[in-house]
Amino acid sequence: MAAVPGTTAAHPASTRVLSKNIHLIRWVEKMASLTQPAAIHWIDGSAEENEYLCQQLVESGTFTKLNEKLWPGCYCARSSPKDVARVEDRTFICSLSKDDAGPTNNWEAPYVMRKKVKELFRGSMRGRTMYVLPFSMGPIGSPMSRIGVQLTDSAYAVVNMRIMARVGLPVFEEIDKDIHRVVPCMHSVGAPLAPGQQDVPWPQNDTKYIVHFPETREIWSYGSGYGGNALLGKKCFALRIASNIARDEGWMAEHMLILGLESPEGEKTYMAAAFPSACGKTNLAMIIPPSGFDGWKTWTVGDDIAWIKPDETGRLRAINPETGFFGVAPGTSERTNPNAMATLRRNTIFTNVAVTPDGGVWWEGMTEEPPAECVDWRGEPWTPEIGRETGRPAAHPNGRFTAPATQCPSFDVEASESPNGVPISAFIFGGRRATAIPLVVHAFNWSSGVYLGATMGSETTAAAEGAVGNVRRDPMAMLPFCGYHMGDYFRHWLTMQRQLSITPRVFQVNWFLKDEAGKFLWPGYSENMRVLKWIIDRVRGRAQGRETPIGWVPRYQDINWDGLDMSPETFAQLEKVDSKAWLREVMGHEELFLALHDHLPAEMIYERELLICRL
Ligand code: GTP
Ligand code: SPV
Ligand code: MN
Repeated sequence: MAAVPGTTAAHPASTRVLSKNIHLIRWVEKMASLTQPAAIHWIDGSAEENEYLCQQLVESGTFTKLNEKLWPGCYCARSSPKDVARVEDRTFICSLSKDDAGPTNNWEAPYVMRKKVKELFRGSMRGRTMYVLPFSMGPIGSPMSRIGVQLTDSAYAVVNMRIMARVGLPVFEEIDKDIHRVVPCMHSVGAPLAPGQQDVPWPQNDTKYIVHFPETREIWSYGSGYGGNALLGKKCFALRIASNIARDEGWMAEHMLILGLESPEGEKTYMAAAFPSACGKTNLAMIIPPSGFDGWKTWTVGDDIAWIKPDETGRLRAINPETGFFGVAPGTSERTNPNAMATLRRNTIFTNVAVTPDGGVWWEGMTEEPPAECVDWRGEPWTPEIGRETGRPAAHPNGRFTAPATQCPSFDVEASESPNGVPISAFIFGGRRATAIPLVVHAFNWSSGVYLGATMGSETTAAAEGAVGNVRRDPMAMLPFCGYHMGDYFRHWLTMQRQLSITPRVFQVNWFLKDEAGKFLWPGYSENMRVLKWIIDRVRGRAQGRETPIGWVPRYQDINWDGLDMSPETFAQLEKVDSKAWLREVMGHEELFLALHDHLPAEMIYERELLICRL
């Protein structure tokens, strides 16, 4: 395609068409005539190009370059206060039939929605550059990988995606082979510029639409430049669209971290764990074994998304389709997650954290002592006094870092490049629950494990809607991410087992139990390793336990307490299965099941009946 008149881009690759694929070129032309950008920039993925884009973002005021000595290659962005998180109520699954989207998703008829998004995108990129960003979720050329092309008017989205996924020329080469079904991903911040109009640091539109067409495998995202709304490879593709592909093709796309633990004897066990957003996946994925676990080694594979597929021998294997971490900053510290701190020291993009006078970053929980002064995530002066008086944090609670996974000291480089992924021996489900759910439970079998995952709940935090402390059912941590009917999703989990020769063991955990005074009963973080060790031993048939109505739990003596002061009394509280509380739980399960009833697999009803009998 010829350079569009009016381009100011200085990067040599910017206007060059980098693919020979006629379908791709025609689609780009068609979308350009719809959105009418001032220039088109095909992304080659090079370091020079990235440098150029970051420089542009500094000039437009989106990025602040951090102190090169303290934070080499790092930038900080401040978003509009109207654009700070995923927008679940603006997220749509537009399947042909409303029934296919199910009651847990927003739905609109594809015909109606298509007209709507075309209207929104008409002229939406005026005055801006449209980037043609090819990306591969998973290693390029792996049979488990999938390819997308994001057309976006956000350079911020491009430089973030470059950290989160494999992008650029090698992906165009794959597309040019014309053997892949490429997922088209349209993205506009919805803020066209009139000639001469001054841009704002964070363009966005108060009207937001995050739209998925599962049958045609398309994504249209409008109005937001933030996180999962804008980095379309992540939740939109790797979970909502991929969950549909996975159901059709017999694999699984899950909101799970992937972690390997290696014993001092060299025995490596990989597990995948589903926790709702902001419930500790990043922490657990990078766990540092505590004292009492000398010689144990952590292998981090992923912190957010797992694509899982049976191999020829009937074993489930998982890849992390991403190449970076888009992690919550507040609460991340040398104490809670030293591996994350080491990861984000360089080449990292921070969003909505505070900037210190020496050109560094800060967020609540990073250090015990807040800095004497800084500029908060809104760009306003902040001191600890101002914080106390106004109650405003320096960093937004959903402020995040975008950091390359290879910089993580525990990153499993070999696994990340392996086309077939790692063998999964255990699935772990965990929510944030102050009561009722014990520290760890080993499900009796696959279907009772699926039941535990399907009925998991989490207390709503300030970031989610609803009153703080309410339990929201979040099946397999997929409530906002499953791209089809949740009842069918449970069925897919149940039927997966038929393809397997070795079935992973299923566990439920809860790091968030509290005593009457509201204090955490479990120290968490590194100490979670003690629970993971019991899980490994259960998987390998070595650990004892005690049977309860909901599954097997460890006895005090089944856990290695070396280096931790844990009284048998506190442990008894952590592993208590209170029948009364659990009967109330079952009522909560019933609420979810009623909503899903016409698609709910019979196994879920049987499991519920069995559970009631045991209680
Ligand atoms: P997304 O990136 O949103 O999908 O979330 P995530 O699951 O990766 O969440 P993240 O690791 O960022 O969760 C951080 C929150 O979990 C913080 O509030 C932490 O303090 C808390 N957290 C993590 N691990 C533990 C733990 O073992 N115990 C307790 N009590 N809190 C924890
Ligand atoms: C989540 O909300 O689960 C995230 C952050 O991982 S975002 O990518 O913005 O969805
Ligand atoms: Mn997530």
